[in-house]
Amino acid sequence: MGFPEGFLWGAATAAYQIEGAAAEDGRTPCIWDTFSRVPGKVLNGDTGDVAADHYHRRREDVAAMARLGLSAYRFSISWSRVLPGGRPNRKGLDFYSALVDELLEAGIAPVATLYHWDLPQELEDAGGWPVRDTARRFADHAERIGRVLGDRVHTWTTLNEPWCSAFLGYAAGVHAPGRVEPEAALAAAHHLNLAHGLAVRALRGVVSPTARHSITLNMHQLRGEPDAVRQVDGIANRVFLDPVLGRGYPEDVIADTASVSDWSFVRDGDDAVIAAPLDVLGLNYYSPTLVRRWDGTSPRVHADGHKQGAASPFVGCDTVEFLRQPGPYTAMGWPVDANGMEEMLLRVHRDHPGVPLMITENGAAFDDEIDAGGRIGDADRIAYLRDHIAAVESAIDAGADVRGYFAWSLLDNYEWAYGYARRFGLIHVDYATGNRTWKDSAAWYRDRIARATA
Ligand code: FCB
Repeated sequence: MGFPEGFLWGAATAAYQIEGAAAEDGRTPCIWDTFSRVPGKVLNGDTGDVAADHYHRRREDVAAMARLGLSAYRFSISWSRVLPGGRPNRKGLDFYSALVDELLEAGIAPVATLYHWDLPQELEDAGGWPVRDTARRFADHAERIGRVLGDRVHTWTTLNEPWCSAFLGYAAGVHAPGRVEPEAALAAAHHLNLAHGLAVRALRGVVSPTARHSITLNMHQLRGEPDAVRQVDGIANRVFLDPVLGRGYPEDVIADTASVSDWSFVRDGDDAVIAAPLDVLGLNYYSPTLVRRWDGTSPRVHADGHKQGAASPFVGCDTVEFLRQPGPYTAMGWPVDANGMEEMLLRVHRDHPGVPLMITENGAAFDDEIDAGGRIGDADRIAYLRDHIAAVESAIDAGADVRGYFAWSLLDNYEWAYGYARRFGLIHVDYATGNRTWKDSAAWYRDRIARATA
């Protein structure tokens, strides 16, 4: 048993987090360029202006991927670099075209994500994801990119973690664009689903017929009291999973959010568009979530990323508490629990049999230290990766159809609201110089891949 033939061993990144070159070669601002400049939204006021400078170090980074022995690389395409103001930008398109060529030359399968949270600012100014037209604009983006890269990209992913785009961006306001409008967040979720379906349809019309189509969801692996689990599972997981896999919106989610919205943004025919056939479902996993029903009197606990008193991303879950779980924790404060990943894979496999799965992100931030000799001995990250890869293997042995594993992340990068203060990379980035240094985990991952593919 174990990893099947053709299993993809990868690493993942995202455009805004690594590229930098924010105002170069015709790129225009996205919502993160704007949001990161709002005081107090991002730690230390960090922006993605330079990030890991990947835009200028692309060749060096592809060479590192080749040395790691990656069989696939998951990256995202900056919408405002390739279609600034809605018009195709040759220089932006050339960047991704060259990246794809260099990957293929190195024997690395390109896995391209069309949207990793960086909505062009002009589309947010026109209303953003709560507005239906944004979905149509996304399909245009998909089609244009598909025409340029469609002969060479191995797997297309429409959206990365639409839960974060909709609910962290429009309900909790802790991600760009920073709005706290629960009803708009529900509309955003629907329009993201619609955008996904329209984009798959648009891509299938223009890209290679052998390309695979996917979406990446961040499944919340929930534990705790069954009714609290059911409710959070609805608004965090099934609100995307079910329509995308052809089951329409779950009745319980619509009922649980009835006081917030009547869901009149869903139109006849949308369900069929959203259910565009998929070849693989991408899942990101970092840690599980523990919930229980709140009794309404004791001080309510919010330990799942949103702070006491802050707006909750879990729309309609006003009587749910999120509990702090036992450690150890990563530098994000996220509990380390590899069993959660196996549970998640087996759950999706059980609920949606026949859908091939892929772990499109998994990894950990730790406070890496460089020793006097320049070495980064990140034993904690190695242990995290080792245990989670073992969890994938045991899910496969238990019957889950898992086609790949992508470590987050290839490089240290811009960790959204945490800026540069959290490091997830296999490769360390010195932000002052741009210099890259392999952490011990990079060498470990290289050896792990070599062992699996020997
Ligand atoms: C995921 C994001 C990714 C990265 C990791 C740590 O939610 O998709 O960009 O920030 O978390």
